Amino acid sequence: MSSLNLEALKKEAAIRAVALIGSGMHVGLGTGSTARYAIEEVGRRVAAGELTGLTCVATSEASDGQARALGLEVGPLTPQPFDLAIDGADEITPDVDLIKGLGGALVREKLVEVQARRLIIIADHTKLVARLGEKAPLPIEVLQFGVQSTLVRLQALGAVGELRRSSPDLHVSDLYVTDNGNFIFDARFAGADLAALERTLKGTLGVVETGLFLKMAERAFVAAPGEVREVVR
Ligand code: 5RP
Repeated sequence: MSSLNLEALKKEAAIRAVALIGSGMHVGLGTGSTARYAIEEVGRRVAAGELTGLTCVATSEASDGQARALGLEVGPLTPQPFDLAIDGADEITPDVDLIKGLGGALVREKLVEVQARRLIIIADHTKLVARLGEKAPLPIEVLQFGVQSTLVRLQALGAVGELRRSSPDLHVSDLYVTDNGNFIFDARFAGADLAALERTLKGTLGVVETGLFLKMAERAFVAAPGEVREVVR
């Protein structure tokens, strides 16, 4: 499938999710190439007067900038629950468990989306998997300070992977730095108990957050040629 067609599918999924937003809602805005289409559609609906009184919180500096440029009202994260959050994902299981974070925004995404009454995922069909870890590595955000020590701890847990670079070019050695000033370790693990893995990783010194989003999403709109499938937890 051409990348042009994949973009069209991402947009279709995004439009389906944004249709769930009503006036006066408090909305979480995701990050990534699919979430960009959702933010664009929110902006379009607000500009057309279809939505009024919307307040938003963005999960990255990039999404914050896009939303503000479209005239959306974007504020800081407060304990106020979200009516709805819309975001992309890197892998989606039939139970709508997710790997997120290849776009680098997993910490803010989890902070925002854990407060959402409804977390709606949008994606093209290439993101569907039977089991998490099938295609994508698991992004783990780690503190810069003492990163080599943190990596030794992660490797002792069976993680195999590497610190993310800011460019795929092998000659560029700069490491990718998140909006929070941290590094990301893209890891692969053997073993099937992801809830236990999540608990272990969260208890590992130097780990800030993981890209495992288990039992968080309500549903996913997954666009394939000719249909948008709804995958419901
Ligand atoms: C960012 C994310 C993204 O939602 C995820 O990487 C999917 O991105 P895209 O829509 O570009 O495929 O988790 O941290």
